Amino acid sequence: MLDAHRAAGRSIGFVPTMGYLHAGHQSLMRASVVANDITAVSIFVNPLQFAAGEDLGSYPRDLARDTDRCADAGVDLIFAPSVEEMYPGPMATVVDVASVASPLEGAFRPEHFAGVATVVAKLFSIMGECRAYFGEKDWQQVAVVTRMAADLSMPVEVVPCPTMREPDGLAMSSRNVYLTPDERAEAPVLRRALDAGLAMIAEGETDPAMIEAVMTDTVATASLAALDYVAAVQADTLIADGPLHGEVRLLVAVRFGTARLIDNDGGMVPGTPA
Ligand code: PAJ
Repeated sequence: MLDAHRAAGRSIGFVPTMGYLHAGHQSLMRASVVANDITAVSIFVNPLQFAAGEDLGSYPRDLARDTDRCADAGVDLIFAPSVEEMYPGPMATVVDVASVASPLEGAFRPEHFAGVATVVAKLFSIMGECRAYFGEKDWQQVAVVTRMAADLSMPVEVVPCPTMREPDGLAMSSRNVYLTPDERAEAPVLRRALDAGLAMIAEGETDPAMIEAVMTDTVATASLAALDYVAAVQADTLIADGPLHGEVRLLVAVRFGTARLIDNDGGMVPGTPA
């Protein structure tokens, strides 16, 4: 759909989203606008990545407001297909980035990343050669789409972008609207759990279990929080292969009532080889 621009020698940046756009999404758009001639945004709540009983039906939608937010960020083109346009019939093809998708989020949402990888593969095909901007807020998603693009020789450069946060540290998310006022007040506990783990890493702690125990205790200080997982892993493989070394990622997933929140942050273990 962008061939005329490419033929005219223009570079393309692409930001895939599910809409209900916030300043986190806009930071990806702005990163694309400064680095590319044309920026395209997709807005599509992808049924494939929601399991039965998840929030597909209630996922917040506001295309008029999203259009304004795209315009504010300098976006040139919005692609907001219907479910029928994206999936005219049943899908026989599924993109499964098995080893990257299976731990962490994959353990709690077994079909999720196949749904993400499949829709992102379709969107990449529709967009063609481009740079594609993804938020580190969804660290494992970045790993999945980066590996998919490499494994399948897709003409797409995946560009990770930093997590945008509210002033109290809560990562911006379309799902934050599900939080009741009491839950919202406790939600920065995810950021605090990450900070507690990062402080241990900065002090040289290399035992993932010790770090995860302190992160778990931190989440437990929030009375409304139900923990799905905390993890202290190598940033590149998303597993701990013994004592932590080099670049480490801490991840946390917590349920507050109907809202499921995820967050992560990274640090370096001092004085250890990568
Ligand atoms: P969605 O949750 O709408 O997020 C779209 C993009 O915005 C993702 O790359 C996500 O990581 C990024 N993002 C979300 N919150 C952010 C924040 N606080 N700071 C920075 N970036 C943030 O992720 C999806 O949609 C879907 O899985 C999708 C990739 C579109 C496939 O359906």
